Amino acid sequence: MKQIVITAYGNPAVLKIQEKADPEPSAGEVRVKVKAIGINFADILARKGLYPDAPKPPCVVGYEISGVIEAVGPGVSASLIDSSVLALTRFNGYADKVCVPENSVFAIPKSLDFERSAALPVNYLTAYQLICVMGGLKKGESVLIHNAGGGVGLAALDIARHLEAAIYGTASAAKHSFLIQRGLNHPIDYRSQDFLAAIMELTDKKGVELILDPIGGRSWKKNYQALRSTGRLGMFGVSSLTESAMGRIFQFIRLIAQMPWYNPLRLMNANKSVFGVNLGHMWHERDKIAGWMQKILAGVDDGWVRPHVDRTFLFEEAPQAHAYIEARKNIGKTVLVVDS
Ligand SMILES: NC(=O)c1ccc[n+]([C@@H]2O[C@H](COP(=O)([O-])OP(=O)(O)OC[C@H]3O[C@@H](n4cnc5c(N)ncnc54)[C@H](OP(=O)(O)O)[C@@H]3O)[C@@H](O)[C@H]2O)c1
Repeated sequence: MKQIVITAYGNPAVLKIQEKADPEPSAGEVRVKVKAIGINFADILARKGLYPDAPKPPCVVGYEISGVIEAVGPGVSASLIDSSVLALTRFNGYADKVCVPENSVFAIPKSLDFERSAALPVNYLTAYQLICVMGGLKKGESVLIHNAGGGVGLAALDIARHLEAAIYGTASAAKHSFLIQRGLNHPIDYRSQDFLAAIMELTDKKGVELILDPIGGRSWKKNYQALRSTGRLGMFGVSSLTESAMGRIFQFIRLIAQMPWYNPLRLMNANKSVFGVNLGHMWHERDKIAGWMQKILAGVDDGWVRPHVDRTFLFEEAPQAHAYIEARKNIGKTVLVVDS
């Protein structure tokens, strides 16, 4: 098998292909011959040493793949062999063969190819947990989606649109026309505009009922201010960590200094709530994940779940794919394809 290894913390050139023996599926596992690999922002953070959850280098990251089951471990029905599946992987996804528990794989809907299937699991599960499970967004409510042009952002847009919410979103100006086509009602160019001022102006100073924040840092406090009474702030990332050229330790110190304190009395009196989401800490809740995934896959069949692949790169081009995302060129998902 071939894997893409983060050989050391650093720029995209630290990603190197290495060969090793094929993995054997253990009891309850299947081995998937990988066709496509979804790249997540967390992979970039891991490569830079800014993602505490990731294994230390040399390591193989990757949270999601699609492909064909080619072998099964003890206790798994051989009838699954040759099935086309998408799967969540707990790291090790940057590989042309991956072993995963049987309950982490899902049949690919007929309307999706391998590339769009690999673009689906992390983005839509995260957005589903944020909006439907913890954010409780309802028809007619308003939601602010930060980083609306990213993979999670586009997934959130699909779900909020399906729920018939009023949708506000921040993204670079060049991405606005595409986002409007996808259903965004109020694009905000956060680079040239203060998003808090924009939200207050657009909502007649009321604010919004739900905010999805993957940016962190300075945006935490401003988001809280942008919440309407009964509003919920869902925090799920710290993309702002990559903004500075400071060393890793200083970046973490700066992040801690920017953290707000949400005290219970203040929350009560403001009628606001804050919550966090980390899909990577949900491995012990596979039943919940499977239930959400069934709803998302039904949404593919119904046409409102529309995973969007911005660009594919060959497996060997992982460094270029990382550089592309870091340059903020992607709208939606960037996917590696395995040529075999
Ligand atoms: N907690 C979880 O379970 C979970 C799951 C998935 C993702 N996440 C987090 O969600 C965030 C987005 O992930 P994703 O995979 O959707 O990202 P993505 O598709 O790679 O989106 C990247 C986009 O983010 C925007 N952006 C805003 N601030 C940025 C910054 N400081 N550095 C780089 N890009 C920035 C850029 O769009 P513009 O051109 O509009 O600026 C960029 O194109 C990340 O923080 C990720 O770690 C968390």
